[in-house]
Amino acid sequence: MDYINVYANGKINIGLDIVGKREDGYHDLKTIMQSIRLHDKLYIKKIYTPKIKIVTNLKWLPIDERNLVYKACDLLFSKYKPDKGVYIELTKNIPVSAGLGGGSADCAATLFGIRRLFNFPISNNELMEIGASLGADVPFCLQRGTMLAEGIGDRLTRLDNHPPVYILLAKPNISISTPKIFSEFDNEKVKKRPDIDGMIKDLEKGDIEGLSHKMVNVLEEVTIKKFPIIDSIKKSMIEQGAMGSLMTGSGPTVFGYFDSRDKAYNGLRYIRKKYKLREVYVTEVFNIGRTN
Ligand code: C5P
Repeated sequence: MDYINVYANGKINIGLDIVGKREDGYHDLKTIMQSIRLHDKLYIKKIYTPKIKIVTNLKWLPIDERNLVYKACDLLFSKYKPDKGVYIELTKNIPVSAGLGGGSADCAATLFGIRRLFNFPISNNELMEIGASLGADVPFCLQRGTMLAEGIGDRLTRLDNHPPVYILLAKPNISISTPKIFSEFDNEKVKKRPDIDGMIKDLEKGDIEGLSHKMVNVLEEVTIKKFPIIDSIKKSMIEQGAMGSLMTGSGPTVFGYFDSRDKAYNGLRYIRKKYKLREVYVTEVFNIGRTN
């Protein structure tokens, strides 16, 4: 085998609670993560020079040591020292720095693809540990589907599949620093927390209405204070018929749940025009686990 194609699915957090702060500055979370169909693509090919060469369709994206794809290759290569190198074509479709886990998904796809291509003797558990050392969301991106994530996001429990729904995504033209949002989070100031256990029951029942009404992300309080447009987009989605709407991760992307394709696309056109946004998409859930 000379090359492999891998998909890197994005994610949304359909409920996100912070339950504590750790000594190392990281936060303990309780969040339900859901893979979405929107994905990046990686074409990974062996080359005869022992180098890591990455090209991408996003001209401004760093493709050196700062990129998680590079870091993932570098880590595996320094451990297993293959005599060949690798050429990777990364096709980005997931908005960058958006709260959609694009970088983590690319990292997970690289780990998975390189292990396969080079037949490195790495167990799934080891791959998860390597992933966790590269980013808090990487273990989820290796597993995909519907998961409860606890700890810093690395303690994962598979949940029942998310019922089908049309998901409108809108990324405002602002850039967010995830460490900054987390560092400004104040647990005392939280007014509303998600009922994660209730949401897990809704997943068991396949109750999309129940899920939509319970969506809460405690990081919104920090991010929306800085960027009120996030709240405005949420309200616009509801006006357009969304059953529920929320910011994903530390933001700034907002998503809305729609029960019909037409409503979702009408919402897309409305939001694109009203806020003059380019990065607006309709996608669906990407499932892997149990379905009722
Ligand atoms: O692990 P990752 O690079 O994705 O995390 C980015 C930043 O987000 C961390 O440096 C940290 O400041 C913050 N973070 C956190 N608690 C988590 C996950 C991330 O404080 N559970």
